[in-house]
Amino acid sequence: MPLSDLLTHIDPAGPEAALARSVNFDRLPKHVAIIMDGNGRWAAERHLPRVEGHRAGIESVRDTVESSARMGIEVLTLYAFSVENWKRPETEVSALMGLLRQYLRLELKTLLKNNIRFNVIGQRERLGREVREELEAAEQRTATNTGMLFNIALSYGGRAEIVDAARRAIREGIPADRLDEDTFASLLYTAGQPDPDLMIRTSGEMRISNFLLWQIAYAEIWVTDTLWPDFRCRHLLDAIIDFQKRDRRYGAVSSGPVTVGR
Ligand code: FPP
Repeated sequence: MPLSDLLTHIDPAGPEAALARSVNFDRLPKHVAIIMDGNGRWAAERHLPRVEGHRAGIESVRDTVESSARMGIEVLTLYAFSVENWKRPETEVSALMGLLRQYLRLELKTLLKNNIRFNVIGQRERLGREVREELEAAEQRTATNTGMLFNIALSYGGRAEIVDAARRAIREGIPADRLDEDTFASLLYTAGQPDPDLMIRTSGEMRISNFLLWQIAYAEIWVTDTLWPDFRCRHLLDAIIDFQKRDRRYGAVSSGPVTVGR
């Protein structure tokens, strides 16, 4: 029972519990994708180095992953490092990779306990060998878990993913008349997964930033001014409650309350 499971981990008399009671757990978004933004601004507001914003952001990752799994969300995708992020100073890049490894070492047990399957999407060959090995070990250890799929987008770019898929189609000799939308989707990193129903972005920016460009064709977008290190379960619940009020039409006429999947 997602509600009772969630309520055992939050203050049952607090505002979060009240929000959780307004969620319709039969109509959850199947796939939630999040652009985690604002770590640098969070640190700047506190006169701290940028990396402290990323470090604080790990607690938000932990809370969001565990809350999503308890709610019964099927797929959660977090945008942790884009292809463009390679242009950041070397010190920031290596600090981010270090934090990622730290997260994995600390959280693998929790992922296993919560039956979460961990999966990397992106150009993993560009990551350092040690990071890659740790990521792949976590993927293997959690491969048979049957609960939530947790995708982490690393060295990820939506355009690069589409180009990679096109190259695969050519390499595999798929005839042009067989290359329809379903076949193309099966060549993406997210093959076999439902498309995101809900895309969340923190820190108030109204941009997609090259994230899941193909997959978000019909996603509902929810933007909050909250900076990523301050993002917690209550913000996710706010987003889901708002999502459940939307009228998803997929280009057709109004179909009433929100529907999930396409
Ligand atoms: C955007 O903030 C955030 C990132 C580029 C990285 C997100 C990384 C983490 C939350 C920590 C490590 C991740 C995991 C999964 C353990 P920004 O630096 O662009 O912020 P700004 O726009 O305020 O400068």
